[in-house]
Amino acid sequence: MPGTVVLGTQWGDEGKGKIIDFCAEKADVVVRFNGGSNAGHTVKVGDEVFRFHLIPSGTIRPEKLNIVGNGVVVDPEVLVKEIDELKGRGYKVDNLKVSERAHLVMPYHKLIDGLEEGLKGSLKAGTTMRGIGPCYEDKAARIGVRFGDLVDRDLLEARLSTLVPLKQRLISAYGGDDVLSREALLRDYVGYGKVLGKYSADTSLILHEALSEGRQVLFEGAQGTHLDIDHGIYPYGTSSNCVTGSASVGSGVGIRHIQEVIGVVKAFTSRVGTGPFPTELPEEEGAYLRDRSLGEYGTTTGRPRRIGWLDTVMVRFSARVNSPDHLAVMKLDVLAGLDPAKVCVAYESDGEELRHFPASMNVLSKCKPVYEELAGWEDISEDTWREVVKAGYDESPPNLREYLAFLTKQTGVPVGIVSVGPGRAETMDIRK
Ligand code: GDP
Ligand code: IMO
Ligand code: MG
Repeated sequence: MPGTVVLGTQWGDEGKGKIIDFCAEKADVVVRFNGGSNAGHTVKVGDEVFRFHLIPSGTIRPEKLNIVGNGVVVDPEVLVKEIDELKGRGYKVDNLKVSERAHLVMPYHKLIDGLEEGLKGSLKAGTTMRGIGPCYEDKAARIGVRFGDLVDRDLLEARLSTLVPLKQRLISAYGGDDVLSREALLRDYVGYGKVLGKYSADTSLILHEALSEGRQVLFEGAQGTHLDIDHGIYPYGTSSNCVTGSASVGSGVGIRHIQEVIGVVKAFTSRVGTGPFPTELPEEEGAYLRDRSLGEYGTTTGRPRRIGWLDTVMVRFSARVNSPDHLAVMKLDVLAGLDPAKVCVAYESDGEELRHFPASMNVLSKCKPVYEELAGWEDISEDTWREVVKAGYDESPPNLREYLAFLTKQTGVPVGIVSVGPGRAETMDIRK
C-alpha cells in the first residue's frame, strides 16, 4: 500500500474475493477496475457467505469506501439487485460510488451475447451471457451509454433513439426474434437513474484525493490474466484487460500509485468456458478436486469448472505481464491428501520443450504438460488448519512449504499469502 493490486494469475476464480476481503482490513478504499457481472467473487465471514458480481468485495466493511471504476461495465439491473440483497442482510451500502464514466450493460447486449455465442461455431468462448463482450464492443465503437447518463433523461432518450433501431437490425440479422422497445428501455433506465444516481461520481478524483492524503487503496481485479483480451488465450477469454496495467486505466489513477501487486494463484487450475487447457484432468479425476472444493462451480453461472493440476507455465507468464511482488496461494487444504502433487513446469510440443506460454491457440492445443511430482501433505480437518495458522507458517506441514518454495522457484515470485480454507482465520500472511 498505498496502492495494492490484487489480480488473478490463471483463468479466474482463483480466490481473489477472499484475498480482497483479507487485505481490505488495512485499506481505506477498495476499487474494482475491470469486467462486469461476469465476475463472481466469494467472501466468507464466519458462517456468512457473500457472492459479489459488481460491488467490490470490501463493501461488507462499512468503514471502507468502495468504488466501481470506469473500467467496469455495469449492468444496472444486477447492481440494484446486489445492493438490495446486501440491504436485506442488514448492510447500509452508503459506502459505494460508481464511476460516471463506467459503461452500462443494456438488455440488447445480453441478447446479442447469446445470439453471437450461438453463431460463433468453434470461436464460441462459453461466455457468461452477461452482455460483457457486446458492451465493451460498443464502448470501443463509441456507441455506449455511460453510468453518468442514467440521470440525464434527454441524453438517454437521444442515445436510445439512435441505438435501438441499430441494435434491432443486428438482432434481426442474427436471426433473433426479440423486439426492442425504446420506450420500455427509456422507462427502465430512467428508473435505474432514480435509484442509482446517488452513487454516480467522479471516482478518479475521489481516488486521487484519497491517495494524496496517504490513504490506502486496494485495486480489485476480476477474471484472470489468461482471460485478458490482450494477454489471455484469444479468442477464449473475456473482453477486458485483467492485468496490473488495467488497474491504473480502469480506475483513473496514475501507475506511480501502485506500489504492491499480489497475484492470486489456486494450487490447482480451473476453467469455466471453452478453449485449450493443457493440464486438464479426465472428468473422474477432476471431479475429485471439484467435489472436495465446494466452490468449484461458476459463482455466476453455476457451471461445473474444468479442473487440472497447477500449471506454472501459465503462472510464469502471469508473473511476466503483471510483475507481482507476491503470490497468494489458495486452496492448499483442497490439495492436501494427494500424494504426489503434480505441478506442470513446461510443455512438450512437436518434440520441443516450451517453458513460455505460447500465443497461438493451435500451438497450445497441441501442448502436453511436463510434470514434476512433489510429495503431498496430510489431509487435516478445518479446525486443525486453523490451529496450523495460529501456530504460524513455520509450523505448517514441511511438504506444503516445499511445494510453495518450488512454486517460487518456477515463477520467480515469493509467496506472500497462504490460504488453507475459505475464511479469514484460514489465512497466513507471510509478506516481509
Ligand atoms: P474469485 O472469482 O477469484 O474471487 O474466486 P471465486 O469466489 O469464484 O471462487 C473461489 C472459491 O474458493 C470460493 O468459493 C471461496 O470461498 C473458496 N476459497 C478461497 N480460498 C480458499 C481456500 O484456501 N480453501 C478453500 N477450501 N476454499 C477457498
Ligand atoms: P472471476 O472474476 C472465471 C470466462 C467465461 C468465458 C470467457 C468469456 O469470478 O474470476 P464473458 O462472459 O466474460 O464474455 O466470458 O471468460 N469468465 C470467467 N471465468 N471467472 C470469471 O470471473 C470469469 N469471467 C469470465 O467463462 O469462458
Ligand atoms: Mg469467481
